[in-house]
Amino acid sequence: MSIQSVATRPFSGQKPGTSGLRKKVSVFRQPHYLENFVQSIFDTVPELRGGTLVLGGDGRYYNRVAVQTILRMAAANGVAQVLVGQGGLLSTPAVSCVIRTRGATGGIVLSASHNPGGPDEDFGIKYNVSNGGPAPEKITEAIHARTEAIEVYRTVDAAELDLDTLGSTELAGMSVEVIDPVADYAALMEKLFDFGAIRALFASGFRMRFDAMNAITGPYAHEILEGRLGAPAGTVVRGTPLEDFGGAHPDPNLVHAHDLVELMMGAGAPDFGAASDGDGDRNMILGRGFYVTPSDSLAVLAANATLIPAYAGGLKGVARSMPTSMAVDRVAAALGLNCYETPTGWKFFGNLLDAGCITFCGEESFGTGSDHVREKDGLWAVLAWLNVLAVRREPLADIVRAHWASYGRNVYTRHDYEGIDSAVADELMADLRASLQSLPGCVLDGLSVTSADDFTYTDPVDGSVSRKQGVRVAFSDDSRIVYRLSGTGTQGATLRVYIERHEADADKHGLDPQQALAALIVLADRIAGITSRTGRPAPDVIT
Ligand code: G6P
Ligand code: ZN
Repeated sequence: MSIQSVATRPFSGQKPGTSGLRKKVSVFRQPHYLENFVQSIFDTVPELRGGTLVLGGDGRYYNRVAVQTILRMAAANGVAQVLVGQGGLLSTPAVSCVIRTRGATGGIVLSASHNPGGPDEDFGIKYNVSNGGPAPEKITEAIHARTEAIEVYRTVDAAELDLDTLGSTELAGMSVEVIDPVADYAALMEKLFDFGAIRALFASGFRMRFDAMNAITGPYAHEILEGRLGAPAGTVVRGTPLEDFGGAHPDPNLVHAHDLVELMMGAGAPDFGAASDGDGDRNMILGRGFYVTPSDSLAVLAANATLIPAYAGGLKGVARSMPTSMAVDRVAAALGLNCYETPTGWKFFGNLLDAGCITFCGEESFGTGSDHVREKDGLWAVLAWLNVLAVRREPLADIVRAHWASYGRNVYTRHDYEGIDSAVADELMADLRASLQSLPGCVLDGLSVTSADDFTYTDPVDGSVSRKQGVRVAFSDDSRIVYRLSGTGTQGATLRVYIERHEADADKHGLDPQQALAALIVLADRIAGITSRTGRPAPDVIT
């Protein structure tokens, strides 16, 4: 089989964002578009020649086509071996796991995470490096630079490979192993968690519902929850990955996982409910009649970590993104652990995990994980909760309320103003930044400002500095308001306002956060002039 060199011309805008290159399927379908980006990866990462590449995606529309294209190009670029998930499937945390357990050179994840899929929706491609995590900016920038100069890509003329049969085959001298997408990941989970205790929990009549949202975690959840842990058949719903996710928006939150939320809040709810997103890295956790915020989830798991076999010796440290509530800080303080505050984005945890500074980390944006892989991991969080529930044998809501009783509750809400004019949003943030110096010492609505800054992060491992990561205003009663513009929005700008207050009084822990935070919510608008500048009387989304 001969290698073909195909002449091509650069496409503009092949710049990977926070999580790889994400575009509409129609963009990826343009002749040479995917090929240009993939060749740019091979050109930027010479170690792939003669190396091992892990390949798979969340099964969305175009996944299969892209896998075949990448396999042919990998062969032409001298990759020695590709490990590809059966059916072209691998969740994002599973790619990370397989790269690490098989000692691969890197991996390619095909996904647009929680964005809808289908011919008119989104597709994405991301390169992960040998630690299992997303390529650092240095590499993604080099890939982007390469896309702007590319003149030729390499491929082989070969028939489509059968991706549905497990086992090894060969493509133009390159070995291709079709692997079970679940096996390595499930084996890792079995090492981390007390499967015996969780099996006993299910055997005792404990009931859960896992909503895979027609996305990638279906096969993982069927095998692990129903197969290995003995949860009754039917525990996993929407468990078959569909190319268009059944027309649903595969994002596990109170809006998009609506049926699960309704079930958990209604009469006859099971003991435990959970969901994960399109590519399996996000999670949402619910108890009977009870929603756990991602910030609380991180804090409660950190406080209970030693109940889980892999973490029985204690945590090395914890980290949260800056806008995530400070609940985990209190746990860290009580346990004598370092707690790191990073900018928004999972990639900022990578160095801390690699250097052994932290074991658990999490974000308010439904991401939780540990040092077992280098991506956030939805099912890991679900299994961590199941392990804690299996040991404590208390209702989930009681566990969280008891946590609040000992640490106080970090009452928390996020208000999103979506699709606002970018110029208005930029001006709002600029004026806010300009007012920061004058804020400390001011008394606003009876609350005294103790500090106000624009968050700058200095990575303690490599010393790199990230500026302008969000404005924080802190008050003397342990409350704070954080403002930042979303880095993932697609239309105009999305202003996110994160509002939090520590409530020590257990009698007030049951209050609705919107009520408990009412005064701060008014103040948040006053400080930034949100309504007057945007004309929006209220946020579009409250979580
Ligand atoms: C993605 C990243 C997360 C990050 C989130 C922030 O999901 O994987 O690590 O927290 O984006 O999104 P935002 O829209 O707030 O910038
Ligand atoms: Zn995701």
